Amino acid sequence: MENRSELLKKTLKYVDRGKVLELGCGTGENAVYLTLKGFKVAGLDLSKQFIHKCKNLAEIYDVHKNIIFMEKDIVQFEYSEKYDLIISDFVFHFLEKDEIDIVIKNMEENTVVGGLNSVSVFNESNPDRFIHNFIKDELKNYYSGWQILEYESLKGHDFIIAKKIS
Ligand SMILES: C[S@@+](CC[C@H](N)C(=O)[O-])C[C@H]1O[C@@H](n2cnc3c(N)ncnc32)[C@H](O)[C@@H]1O
Repeated sequence: MENRSELLKKTLKYVDRGKVLELGCGTGENAVYLTLKGFKVAGLDLSKQFIHKCKNLAEIYDVHKNIIFMEKDIVQFEYSEKYDLIISDFVFHFLEKDEIDIVIKNMEENTVVGGLNSVSVFNESNPDRFIHNFIKDELKNYYSGWQILEYESLKGHDFIIAKKIS
């Protein structure tokens, strides 16, 4: 299982255990990888077809008993527990600005103190126009009260790894 994202590789420098939520988990590679590493993982995606693929992947790697995949809209999702890590890798371009505000507020509130949020987004330098392309520092500004462990604005995309400190 080497098929994992750059964001995840960077994030795993800062955390090696705990409860993880992946928002917009796609076909489940990150989530299954984290489960194999010993994290307790839940993944959400809007796509029924992708959630089906996630469940198949979890069976192939024999981690289906240790992972939860849910077909849900991340904007509507009601949290019932807090997480050590919440990750969202290239999902927010599907959302309107006011929806992103809601999703990140909920992520922040439902992260334990000392826990992390890891997010990658497409920015305005990306040649593709999405529903939302992030402008300079927009992603970082959501995390003004947090410790920024990593933040980079690259050609086409930004990413952040931030730690909740209070
Ligand atoms: C570009 S893919 C990224 C998938 C995965 N994070 C990865 O990096 O491989 C974006 C994913 O976000 C999901 N998505 C888009 N809007 C969503 C929403 N409102 N709620 C849940 N999932 C959503 C899509 O179904 C898709 O699987």
